[in-house]
Amino acid sequence: MKGIILAGGAGSRLFPLTLVASKQLQPVYDKPMVYYPLTTLIEGGVREFCLISTPHDLPRFKQLLGDGSAWGLSIDYREQPKPQGIAQAFLIAESFIGNDAVTLILGDNVFYGSDSFHRAFAEFKGGATIFGYHVNDPERYGVVAFDAGGHAISIEEKPSQPKSNYAVPGLYLYDNNVVSITRNLKPSARGELEITDVNVEYMRRGQLRVHRLSRGFAWLDAGTSSSLHEASAYVQTIEKRAGIKIGCPEEAAFRRGFLSLAQLEALTAKMPKCEYHEYLGEVVAEAKRLAS
Ligand code: G1P
Repeated sequence: MKGIILAGGAGSRLFPLTLVASKQLQPVYDKPMVYYPLTTLIEGGVREFCLISTPHDLPRFKQLLGDGSAWGLSIDYREQPKPQGIAQAFLIAESFIGNDAVTLILGDNVFYGSDSFHRAFAEFKGGATIFGYHVNDPERYGVVAFDAGGHAISIEEKPSQPKSNYAVPGLYLYDNNVVSITRNLKPSARGELEITDVNVEYMRRGQLRVHRLSRGFAWLDAGTSSSLHEASAYVQTIEKRAGIKIGCPEEAAFRRGFLSLAQLEALTAKMPKCEYHEYLGEVVAEAKRLAS
């Protein structure tokens, strides 16, 4: 499965932070925001990426992530000149997707939690898989409602009267039909190709699976000053308590077998002395202990 990271938009809700660096490059505690969605997809087993951003911001992402080879990945880049909707990503990245299935993650979404989440990737066979997450403010999101048997019966984009408290997070898995479905979409009232319309079409075809994320799972978006601060505080709390890092692509690539121990060690040795370096040093030392 191929992976798209959508890191476009003007980030106007974060002004003036976003005057010189795009939203997805802002720090979430100790790492650039884009590290988190990238790590989520690596943990799901994705190795081939396409990052989409504005012509203005794309060079910065290239500077940060390169071609991905240092982490055992490949990363392509494509421009989204104007923000015309999340689903537009499938048209922009059509040649990257080729004949494969594809997962799309939004560059400002932070996920942290149990293994069942990652199983959704392994179990994906076709159609579409999306997630549902209980939130306090569903009107800010795509909202999915279920019948008594737990089947999804409606999905609406930012409804003023939400039919449930289940928001649809910015992580979507699709078979290759997503490209033709997107091609047939009409822009919404706000002039965008809506990801919700893609999901509604899969639902109409009886090919939509909605995986409800359990309590204890964390989904945060970092698109406003408050949510950015809360995401940072959350990451700091967990990292400090557990002595692990959330959103560390090097570690995820190593645990997935995309990087060998020797490669991880060489990568770590090149880093300046800092907490991140120390942490990866411990990951290397522990792996060596276990191997001996
Ligand atoms: C977008 C989607 C929405 C989804 C949300 C997740 O919203 O349109 O369906 O729930 O991302 O972050 P937007 O980025 O337009 O606020």
